[in-house]
Amino acid sequence: MAIGLPLTVDEMRMADVPQVHEIERLSFRTPWPSYAFEQELTGNRLARYVVARAGIVGGERVVGFAGVWLMVDEAHITTFGVHPEWRRRGVGRQLMVRLLDLAQEMGATRLTLEVRAGNAAAQSLYGSFGFEIVGRRPRYYTDDGEDALVMSIPSLGDPAMRDLLRRERERAEVEEGP
Ligand SMILES: CC(C)(COP(=O)(O)OP(=O)(O)OC[C@H]1O[C@@H](n2cnc3c(N)ncnc32)[C@H](O)[C@@H]1OP(=O)(O)O)[C@@H](O)C(=O)NCCC(=O)NCCS
Repeated sequence: MAIGLPLTVDEMRMADVPQVHEIERLSFRTPWPSYAFEQELTGNRLARYVVARAGIVGGERVVGFAGVWLMVDEAHITTFGVHPEWRRRGVGRQLMVRLLDLAQEMGATRLTLEVRAGNAAAQSLYGSFGFEIVGRRPRYYTDDGEDALVMSIPSLGDPAMRDLLRRERERAEVEEGP
């Protein structure tokens, strides 16, 4: 679906944390507390966090966010969420494009994440970017004992990945329109 508003993805700032936390609260059974994001932004050299902003400059609103850690040559997605009112409009795809860019810029060759076994929406998004299920962690989520699936893109440098990112950028331009 077309977004119809300028959508930008850039670095998360301290001032974004209250809006990010609200999306967390609406999205996850056990949301990260605000201070966890503040610590990540100020104290974790390995971490990068991004937000998607919708609207015109001055009237922008944070509609999604995501984070990644870099550990040697492997990057790991730590969190990923889109505001419920903004889902199915391509925001998740644009966040993922930025994370893939960041992971490649940081020199990662492999990108991994954990996702709830029952989270079909997220698995579908990740699958469309070439993530494959490579493992299962039984009872990984302590709040309800749900299993996690481990998903991975094994080789970020593949020409197929470059083509996929190019197609996604073109798609985002078309969806946002003039
Ligand atoms: C998963 C999530 C981030 C997707 O964000 P989004 O902005 O709605 O995703 P997009 O609009 O970019 O969708 C991209 C693709 O993901 C898949 N997808 C997204 N939502 C889906 C749903 N409800 N059901 C099935 N597939 C879905 C589709 O393949 C979609 O492509 P399409 O629209 O061309 O069919 C969002 O649903 C969310 O925040 N969920 C709650 C938090 C969460 O589960 N985070 C992931 C933790 S691992």
